[in-house]
Order: sequence, then C-alpha cells, then structure tokens
Amino acid sequence: MHIAGHTPDAPHPRGDSVEQSAAISPSVTEIESLKAQLLEARKQATLGELLGTTTHEFNNALTTILNYARLGIRHPDKETRDKALNRILSASTRAAKITASVLSMSRSHRSSNRMEPVNLVSLTEEVLVLLEREMMKYRVQVEREFSEVPKVLANPGQLQQVLLNLLVNARQAMPDGGRLILRIATTPARQSVSLLVRDMGCGMSREVMQKMFDANFSTKAGPDETGKGGTGLGLTACREIIESHKGRIRVESSIGKGTGITIRFPSLRPVAAAG
Ligand SMILES: Nc1ncnc2c1ncn2[C@@H]1O[C@H](COP(=O)(O)OP(=O)(O)OP(=O)(O)O)[C@@H](O)[C@H]1O
Ligand SMILES: [Mg+2]
Repeated sequence: MHIAGHTPDAPHPRGDSVEQSAAISPSVTEIESLKAQLLEARKQATLGELLGTTTHEFNNALTTILNYARLGIRHPDKETRDKALNRILSASTRAAKITASVLSMSRSHRSSNRMEPVNLVSLTEEVLVLLEREMMKYRVQVEREFSEVPKVLANPGQLQQVLLNLLVNARQAMPDGGRLILRIATTPARQSVSLLVRDMGCGMSREVMQKMFDANFSTKAGPDETGKGGTGLGLTACREIIESHKGRIRVESSIGKGTGITIRFPSLRPVAAAG
C-alpha cells in the first residue's frame, strides 16, 4: 500500500487542504489501528450471528424433545414410546453437541490472540454443527471430503470466523439450494494443509472478484432472515486473518457455475507425498 507523507519543506497549505492531506495520508500506526478495529467489528458481528444461529438450533432440538415427550405420554403403547424416546435421545445428543461447540467457540474467542496447534477437521465439524439446520433449511447438501491432516498453528476463534463466513457466503450463493463441497487435504509440494469450500451457486463476475476483498463491498441487499450477510467485511476479515497466519487464500469462480475458495496454511509436521 502506498502511504503518502507530508513533505516538510513544501509550502504549508492552509485551512481545508491541511486537514484533507492529513485525512488522506494515514500513518502506518493509524492503518494498523484501523485494521484492528475492522477485525474487532467483524468479530463482534460474527459473535452476534452465532448467538442467533445457536439459539435457533438449540430451540429446534428442544422443540423436538418437547413434542416427542408429549407424544410418549399421550400414547403409552410400547412402540410409540420407544420411537419417542429414540427421537428424544438423538435430539438431546444434538443439543449437547451444540452447547459443546458454543463453549469451545467462546473459549477460543476469549483467548483472542493465542496461536495453538489446530486440527482443521475437528474445527470444521464444530462450525458445521452450528450451521446444520440452516443448511437444511436452504436445502444445501454439505459433502465432506476430509483426509487426515497434520495440525496447523492457528488461532481457533479466528479460523472459526473465517470458516463461518466462507460457509455462509457459499450458502447465500445458492438461494435454491445445491451441493457444498468441503475438502481438507495436504499439499506435499507446498508442505501445507488446505481447506476448499466449493459451492454450485451464482458465481462471481470479474468485477465482483476484483472487489470482493474490499472493506464494505457487498452485493447483498442486507442481512437475510438468519441475520447474516451484507456488511461486506466478511472476506476482508478472512484475508486479514489468513495473512496473519502466513496462509493463502485463492478464489476461483465462474458465473452460473459456482465458486471455490481454497485456504492454505503451513503444516506443523512434514507432509509426505502420497504413494
Ligand atoms: N461463494 C460466493 N459466491 C458468490 N459470490 C460470493 C461468494 N463469496 C463472496 N461473494 C461475493 O463477494 C462479496 C463480498 O463477500 P463478503 O463475505 O466480504 O461480504 P458479504 O457476504 O456481502 O457480507 P458479510 O460481511 O456480512 O459477510 C459478496 O457480497 C458477494 O458478492
Ligand atoms: Mg460474507
């Protein structure tokens, strides 16, 4: 980024122009502080979205439990009771998974800057638990292609945030539903671990692709009924976070066919070539 400085021996402009030149020439520290503010704002937004999503997901499990408990009480025959108990068991197992996910996320958001060895597969599963119902509602079929991969050095809270945004973007690109492929694999040539999020959605034009990482750039009218999308900070924050992890992000997209976004992180263990 080019940072314009103020030449000391240039004739000193007066009034407006001084203010203007100060405004268009932020110092490196100012830029860093703005970046930090942006990341913090986006993190708060993610936490807000998460709160909405998990409450919905949890309520859904609770409704199932209540309904089947009522059914079991109303119909004392063994067959109905067994069926009711089984449904209650699976709904409560799901509710327990949701709370475990939320607890893990709030833990990682509290230790905000700590880097630790992270297993991308389990982190992705945790995020998926929270989006399961939302994906079902929009008829998005999530296909997992997960290999066993070495850990990467990362801040789990920030990675969850990246993943949430990529998954929500993919879902929003397919308003009529479709397949969402998640692939986690190693790339021996680069000694890296990668995560691909591929949707079969609307895709992006060249113009959108050029601007997608810009702060506040969004083609969405505003938050959808799940309260997500439209701030235009999602990918901006993703890129900031990935760069701070010495990772890479690559986007491929074609209009009407879909988008594939690969994020890649240095592996903590040497990655051997297959075969
Ligand atoms: N998977 C995708 N398919 C099609 N377009 C996409 C996809 N991901 C991102 N985009 C485009 O890039 C824009 C910027 O994405 P970004 O995630 O930064 O913002 P947003 O989703 O609009 O809002 P939010 O900040 O709330 O996430 C989107 O508005 C959309 O036009
Ligand atoms: Mg987004």
